[in-house]
Amino acid sequence: MAIQRVGKVGSPNSSGAFTVKRSAASRVRPLSLNSQNSTETHSAYKGFGALRSTRWQASKKCAKIGRETSNRTLKKRTLSTRIPHKRNQVEFVEVNGEDAASRTDQTPQSEAIKIPRSIEEVDNGSLLGFGDDLAEDHPGYLDEEYKARRVMIGNLGRSHKVGQEIPRLQYTDTEIATWKEILDSLEEFFPRFACKEYLDAYALCDFSKEEVPQLQDMSELLQKQSGWSIRPVAGLLHPRDFLNGLAFKTFHSTQYMRHHSKPMYTPEPDVCHELIGHVPMLLNPQYAQLAHEIGLASLGASEKDIWHLTKVYWYTIEFGVVMQEGEAKAFGAGIISSYGEIQHQGAGKATLQKLDPYSKLPKMSYKDGYQQLYMTLDSFEDGVKLLRNFASSRPKSCA
Ligand SMILES: [Fe+2]
Repeated sequence: MAIQRVGKVGSPNSSGAFTVKRSAASRVRPLSLNSQNSTETHSAYKGFGALRSTRWQASKKCAKIGRETSNRTLKKRTLSTRIPHKRNQVEFVEVNGEDAASRTDQTPQSEAIKIPRSIEEVDNGSLLGFGDDLAEDHPGYLDEEYKARRVMIGNLGRSHKVGQEIPRLQYTDTEIATWKEILDSLEEFFPRFACKEYLDAYALCDFSKEEVPQLQDMSELLQKQSGWSIRPVAGLLHPRDFLNGLAFKTFHSTQYMRHHSKPMYTPEPDVCHELIGHVPMLLNPQYAQLAHEIGLASLGASEKDIWHLTKVYWYTIEFGVVMQEGEAKAFGAGIISSYGEIQHQGAGKATLQKLDPYSKLPKMSYKDGYQQLYMTLDSFEDGVKLLRNFASSRPKSCA
């Protein structure tokens, strides 16, 4: 489905590092091609950083300038932002025992945004990019066999219904070898650079290097430990849907493996990033509560707040560090699942700054190699309180 260019969306920026390419379908190249810090040393995806470059930004831009696009979903979202809405018309919903709308103290904006009442009402098919359509600089771009497998796995995610078992994949020998290589490479860094909660949870996962863990098994483990579930998804989800999923203690996870030619690099989330980076931390109840608070804050949030929450997510769940015994220890999945990023963060050369969700957060840097700024929590307990209070303070725009 073609997407027309809208304004400057899709154009390179002045540094030549802008990464969106639009053609037969929306394709994303989320990383700089000319960065000094070669992104190919990363094993963690940087996909969330591409959000602003893709449909989210296109939607925002279109709402502003009122242009038509041929993307039906984009058009729908664009129109929804133009519907005038009565003040204080708030729908009260119950979310995992918490009254989401009780966190709504005002609805000053004119956007009409529906709050999902259950995880079934959260769309898991609205992808920002990747999916089956790989960009030209994706390691698997020329590999037809790999792309066909991605289509097959993506379709499993698309057809999955909440409550069903997640389909079990027979990973190939090549995929298992990639998983093993990544795990072998990362494990030596965990004791030095990961927070103690991660180390405990990682042991609980008891990952085998001889087989790629099944999402269904990990989901069952999560259910037992923290009450969370995994829902398969075909690619990088729209941020509202992804964040809304957290409100229902559901983590949307990809199931496909990165391309075997570059095991230490992926430009997108893949099953290694999800399993190594996200799943262990979600076993920890306090961390899981932190993610839940971000999700609750996203229910009924305006587009502007969704963008801000995406940054809160970025600086915590993806690239967060927690202070332990005077040192910044990693808990963010983007650090922990990345061979290059975990060493970079552990070297202590990046700036540390205490997380302040009320402040304007720096832009998410996905084009300059490793992160130059990490945001810190004093503890997960403090982080939960901070984000709960922050969520309570946010206005909602509800339909
Ligand atoms: Fe992630």
